[in-house]
Amino acid sequence: MEPLLAADDIARLADALARASYTSHGIAERIGPAAVDAVRRNDFRGMLRATTERDPLATLVRLFLGGQTEPAAAVEAALDPLPLEAAVRAGLVEPYGDGLHAGVDLDVYAHDDVDRWVLSDLDVDARPGPIREDHVLGIGNAATTLAAATPRTHVSRALDIGTGCGVQALRLSAHSDTVTATDVSPRALRFAATTAALNGLTWELLAGDLAAPVAGRRFDLVVSNPPFVIGPGSTRYTYRDSGRAGDAICAELAATAPDLLADGGTMQFLANWLHVTGEDWHDRVAGWVAGTGCDAWIVQREVSDPVEYVNLWLRDASEAFDPARAEAWLDWFDAVKAEGVGYGLVTLRRSGRDVPVVRVEELRQVPVPSLGAHVPGWFERQDWLADNDVLDFSYEQAPGLRLTQEALFDADDWAVDRQVLVQTDGLKWSEEVDPVALALVSGADGTMPLRGQLAVLAAAFDTPEPVLAAMAVPVVSHLVERGYLVPVRT
Ligand SMILES: C[S@@+](CC[C@H](N)C(=O)[O-])C[C@H]1O[C@@H](n2cnc3c(N)ncnc32)[C@H](O)[C@@H]1O
Repeated sequence: MEPLLAADDIARLADALARASYTSHGIAERIGPAAVDAVRRNDFRGMLRATTERDPLATLVRLFLGGQTEPAAAVEAALDPLPLEAAVRAGLVEPYGDGLHAGVDLDVYAHDDVDRWVLSDLDVDARPGPIREDHVLGIGNAATTLAAATPRTHVSRALDIGTGCGVQALRLSAHSDTVTATDVSPRALRFAATTAALNGLTWELLAGDLAAPVAGRRFDLVVSNPPFVIGPGSTRYTYRDSGRAGDAICAELAATAPDLLADGGTMQFLANWLHVTGEDWHDRVAGWVAGTGCDAWIVQREVSDPVEYVNLWLRDASEAFDPARAEAWLDWFDAVKAEGVGYGLVTLRRSGRDVPVVRVEELRQVPVPSLGAHVPGWFERQDWLADNDVLDFSYEQAPGLRLTQEALFDADDWAVDRQVLVQTDGLKWSEEVDPVALALVSGADGTMPLRGQLAVLAAAFDTPEPVLAAMAVPVVSHLVERGYLVPVRT
């Protein structure tokens, strides 16, 4: 795949960026912590005030982060040893007014204690008017959400489907021996190739639809931030429109998992799904993974109504307000009886289990900045639950559990009628628990197997032990799955 610049020019550009200290540390040192915070809130004043001198770092910051037009001589000096004509030819900078401004977004992405340079098209806000149809997305919220949700354990072979500027591939490079990436857009692949070369990385970049370019091959980790936007199946913008109607792109991605994943391999992708009148959204999404033989953990993070959704995506591409387009899109939602769109994350694992675990649930309680750190544990707990009899084990409470109680004043005293167990750490689940479950959690000090605990409680609750066990086993399994109780062998 041809990068935007010749290999030696990419090396020259990397040299210029490194020499100027165009890095997260270099920029932070130059503009100061207050301006760094302000930039995160889209307030660029401090950054621009700190870069009025025309040294290379100041010029690069003003050009690529501040959206300024800079004198040609300053830009030439900042990019040296990359010749200015090469930068203009590649579209990195463009003549504008009496100087030059950025033609692409050249961002610094700091992760895993390394700085990477990422090339993409200019953000929608950086240029007036609608974006090009083959717009190559920069590092946006969806990209960072997926990146934060991906488990970062070491793997041999990783695949990024729909790589765009290469942001996910960059993250994969830190913990995978090889990185393969696909995209249907030749323009995106050229940007990804440039991002890879600029950071001294080697990726296998393949053109084609979803996983078609890697048919017959298997990977330990597959990630995708696909063009998941739901509509009638248009292809207006490659970065968000798949050409498939409704949420079919996500169903199709899930269906690729069994042929794509190595034994024990994980696939993770962001998804949108329809909430259709008369249909349970859990069943709809579970239907995507039925028949794949994979364990699945699917979490819904947000739900939008169709009007919010259509307006969001019309704004996203900076399109001029077009009531007819909004109307046609909303009419399509009506025609398929959609009352909402769910947004979330699908994680599949090829466990080889005869009866795979498929869990579809809401995870809306908190922002989870490092969801990826919790993903392997979730699947490990499924393995443990599949391989063990919960009755044989004793349990300890996870650290930081909190109990909240609600009570009604009943004649002469308060009567507790609702008890909720809350995790103050991790995924911060909260769960209403009945008195038996609470007694089990309260007694979970790691000393007595559940079977013994139930024998004691059977007397206290005046319930036959087998009846109590039939009630307790699914509850304890659920509390283990969500990490409230940690098994301890005694
Ligand atoms: C939302 S962008 C994600 C880009 C990047 N991976 C990220 O995380 O920001 C979706 C990407 O999928 C690509 N794409 C669209 N349709 C595709 C298809 N059918 N097969 C493969 N890639 C596709 C687009 O060109 C775009 O680069």
